Amino acid sequence: MRKKIVAGNWKMNMGLKEGIALFSEISELVKAEVKGDQGVIVCPPFIHISSLVQSLTVNDKLAVGAQNCHQSDSGAFTGEVSASMLSSAGAAYVIIGHSERRLYFSESNETLAQKLDAVLKNNLIPIFCIGETLEQRNDGSYFDVIKSQLAEAAFHLNEADFSKLVIAYEPVWAIGTGLTASPEQAQEIHAYIRKLVAEKYNSNLANDLTILYGGSCNPKNASELFAQPDIDGGLIGGASLKARDFVDIIKALDR
Ligand code: 13P
Repeated sequence: MRKKIVAGNWKMNMGLKEGIALFSEISELVKAEVKGDQGVIVCPPFIHISSLVQSLTVNDKLAVGAQNCHQSDSGAFTGEVSASMLSSAGAAYVIIGHSERRLYFSESNETLAQKLDAVLKNNLIPIFCIGETLEQRNDGSYFDVIKSQLAEAAFHLNEADFSKLVIAYEPVWAIGTGLTASPEQAQEIHAYIRKLVAEKYNSNLANDLTILYGGSCNPKNASELFAQPDIDGGLIGGASLKARDFVDIIKALDR
């Protein structure tokens, strides 16, 4: 059975106090209102992780993730944080390959392959992001882009490791723009990703893979997106900073 997940990517937002307050508000609303067994992940800035983990209670539906990590376990990499450090702080997930990391921090597929290895070696679950730019959508090369992002960064993994991944399809043109991919556009790519995984590994693994959609997902459009057969939840940016909106998106998976 595929796991359904909604993950919030806070990006570089929220001071520590506000972050703790938001997390506790989300936690209360989830406890009171969310009926299903979907996973809920919050990915705050690094410095919040330990405090949020400490506020988790037994049977909490929530898990805490990071937004990035370095590919080495330790060493002279000023300003960086490793997957083993994230694990020691109690994070369970790490977003790898977000388009903002690829664009502003020049992360290549080759670097991302190393990051995926580091995350898996430290028993964390990668939320691996792929997605095309507007130019690539318009010139029709987006299927090739998706294929090479997946193959170059993740297809070196053995079957057991690949099966631990969560994939997030995030079309760059839909991130923070208010332009959501239509349910049909998103479904087309999610089905394509599953087909590529089935060809490389096998259809059982592909069927069990959780594939999230991200890009201007909000309480209004979430239900229709999540109703698509190959969309297993969402990776939420802006709307994850408002507890009410975030929890309404999580509840869209209840239906
Ligand atoms: P928005 O939901 O703000 O468009 O961001 C999506 C995203 O980048 C999640 O990682």
